[in-house]
Amino acid sequence: MRVLSIFGTRPEAIKMAPLVLALRGEPQLHSSVCVTGQHREMLAQVMGLFGLQADHELDVMLAGQSLNGLFARLLAAVDGVLDAARPDCVLVHGDTSTAAAAAMAAFHRRIPVGHVEAGLRSGNIHSPFPEEMNRRLVDSVSTWLFAPTPSARAAALQEGVSGHIWVTGNTVIDALNAALATLDADPARQQALAQRYHWLDGRRRLVLVTGHRRENFGEGLRNICAALRDLAGRDDVQIVYPVHLNPNVQGVVQKTLAGHPHIHLIEPLDYLDFLWLMRRAHLILTDSGGVQEEAPALGKPVLVLRDVTERPEAVAAGTVRLVGTSRERIATEANRLLDDAALYAQFCRKANPYGDGHACQRIVDALCGRSVAEFRPELRHAPEPHPPLNAIFSESQL
Ligand code: UD1
Ligand code: UDP
Repeated sequence: MRVLSIFGTRPEAIKMAPLVLALRGEPQLHSSVCVTGQHREMLAQVMGLFGLQADHELDVMLAGQSLNGLFARLLAAVDGVLDAARPDCVLVHGDTSTAAAAAMAAFHRRIPVGHVEAGLRSGNIHSPFPEEMNRRLVDSVSTWLFAPTPSARAAALQEGVSGHIWVTGNTVIDALNAALATLDADPARQQALAQRYHWLDGRRRLVLVTGHRRENFGEGLRNICAALRDLAGRDDVQIVYPVHLNPNVQGVVQKTLAGHPHIHLIEPLDYLDFLWLMRRAHLILTDSGGVQEEAPALGKPVLVLRDVTERPEAVAAGTVRLVGTSRERIATEANRLLDDAALYAQFCRKANPYGDGHACQRIVDALCGRSVAEFRPELRHAPEPHPPLNAIFSESQL
């Protein structure tokens, strides 16, 4: 079977990379990759780390492009690739414009779609926007739905989707394990990272921040920045914020926070750098989806800068709290975690509600028609050592 994986943004690349490696290792499947160019710089970092190369490279991004403009260009460009490549099935990931347009393009050509990370729902089609709608759309046209958790499966079932659903765990944990194994096997790289971030102040606790969601543009992001200034006024805190390349984010963040002595605004980071900083962090503030999944696996407390989340499992596990975008609420909740050691310890419990590192193999098994031992988060999975990426690829590819 010819399987074409299509992705375009940073989080899709991180979560599809280990799957592409697993597809490549399966003799029954012929795997190829199409990258759409939705994120150029941020995607290249991930492709390099995992040693991936695109078989089809599109160039859909235009400066100042609207969501409709992007969607239209994606639909036409992906259609051209489908026409040339004639895959037997298409795999897309998550809830981006790339995923929704690629799924529709395949559906129009009656090519079966497999949806990786199916079934997540916030219950509000305006938040995350437009991602909640994108995900519903992809689920509804998919033949195979790879739901990370039992609640994601339940949400998809409730909508009456027609495809078959498997609970696989989230491939983000496979990616995290592979990346951490690479980092841990390489003392020279760890030393280089410590050197790169030598400016971190050992006497101040590190608060790591990411924020880029469209529904937070404007007032929400201004409130978040004001709360960060409040926090940076403490004498025991330093803030590091790798700022997303979206001009709507850059504009507000740079204008409000640049130049503060204890706030470091930096470029979007390579995945390994970001994981190194996550491990080094005391507390994480984010509106990102993937970070909500990775941080609990690392035992790091997270305050989520959103009113609703399509990832409720870590909230239920008590390692993540939704705080929205009110300046007062963000500052109050962060100060509590910084000041109350007992509360902080409760948040630090390691939790792995999103996966056990075997999601990719389950997806490959499902595609090959083999029986799948589904992910059951209630079972305690002993962490298994993962080979570093350079054990899978030659050094020159890393
Ligand atoms: C997209 C996804 C969102 C995901 C996010 C991850 C949609 C609708 N949303 O949102 O689900 O959480 O990616 O980052 O698909 N830019 C660059 N270079 C890059 C990346 C972005 O210049 O490598 C700039 C461009 O000006 C671009 C803008 O960022 O127009 C916004 O990117 P876009 O992909 O439209 O949306 P995101 O907000 O990043
Ligand atoms: N990430 C990264 N570099 C950064 C910030 C985040 O590699 O500077 C990783 C992070 O670990 C997670 C993913 O990017 O795996 C999240 O991507 P993003 O926040 O862009 O999108 P979302 O997950 O919200 O869709």
